[in-house]
Amino acid sequence: MKDMNLSASVRYIGAQDDDLDLFESQYPVPNGMTYNSYLILDEKVAVFDTADQRKTDEWMENLTRELAGRTPDYLIVQHMEPDHSAGILEIAEAYPEMKIVGNAKTFPMMTAFLGTDLSGRAVIVKEGDTLELGAHTLQFIMAPMIHWPEVMMTYERSEKILFSADAFGTFGTIEKQEDDWACEARRYYFNIVGKYGAQVQGLLKKAAALEIEKIAPLHGPVLTEDLGFYIGKYQVWSSYEPEDPGVTIACAGVHGNTLAAAKMLGEMLQARGVKVKLFDLTRDDMSEVMEDAFRYDRLVLAATTYDGELFPVMHDFLYHLKMKNYRNRTVGVIENGSWAPQAGKKMLEGLAALKDVTVLEPVVTVKSALSPESEEQLAHLAEALAAEK
Ligand code: FEO
Repeated sequence: MKDMNLSASVRYIGAQDDDLDLFESQYPVPNGMTYNSYLILDEKVAVFDTADQRKTDEWMENLTRELAGRTPDYLIVQHMEPDHSAGILEIAEAYPEMKIVGNAKTFPMMTAFLGTDLSGRAVIVKEGDTLELGAHTLQFIMAPMIHWPEVMMTYERSEKILFSADAFGTFGTIEKQEDDWACEARRYYFNIVGKYGAQVQGLLKKAAALEIEKIAPLHGPVLTEDLGFYIGKYQVWSSYEPEDPGVTIACAGVHGNTLAAAKMLGEMLQARGVKVKLFDLTRDDMSEVMEDAFRYDRLVLAATTYDGELFPVMHDFLYHLKMKNYRNRTVGVIENGSWAPQAGKKMLEGLAALKDVTVLEPVVTVKSALSPESEEQLAHLAEALAAEK
């Protein structure tokens, strides 16, 4: 594997998960997943987080190898979600003298997850507290809701490393990272952290006061160069500003007629020079649709009526948008219905629950299949969407 060590004394001991089907039981990870963990070897020895239970054996092997006979003094618990905390009992039992560093919210959660109270070994820290390891000094930064309430990050002053917990994480093992970091980092961000833009904005303000040379997240590669690029992406994503001009079309249909309307709209937009990303919600992965809904400045919802309601996958998509705080975009709507179209009304109700969303006219109605009338409405909607650029 590529050398992931940050320096002679800051070692990478993370695990690579190559055959996980769904991360957090919902996100496909065709390139696998990392559970990152780090070790600082100084006068005192500190371990940063553990790993998912699927990989605690691999993680313990890495830890033991890099310790080379030494004993950890501290386990720093930055996040209690089980993809990082499953090894806590194992390391605590292996090294009974080791202290466990967390904040006031960490330990109740630890007891609940592990079924064992380790608070007798706790070092409880708060914002700005420091821990001296020797040449290295750890400074703790509270980062609640990025992406759980107990999350904290750690700045190491001598090597200027920000241990950033889930922030700046991405899907994929180290060997199978995409060349374009932003592709999977964006899907990770909007689906996992996206709801908490305000908290990420707060973190970025704190980070701006630090001199950072390396970012060491809990998933994906350590970032060592051009940090302004990554921080700039987080600035855009967490502000809910669109990243790129373009139209994401999300379609939910039964027999192909709604999809035909969505495709026709896409072609009309492309003919006007607009970038289009078309998704079939019945078959495409929801996390990919969410990523592009946030990435582009315009969105079109196309859905058919079903049992007098909205076709279920579109209902689910609107639920996802609401849950992740989707906002600040322009949206078009296409409904289909053969005898009593209801999908448009239902989609407009869903959109009304989102902040700063502008719905364009006309709301297109397809009755069963495309017709000259509905094609004309589509052309008007394409015109309105293209004019928003
Ligand atoms: Fe990677 Fe929120 O756990």
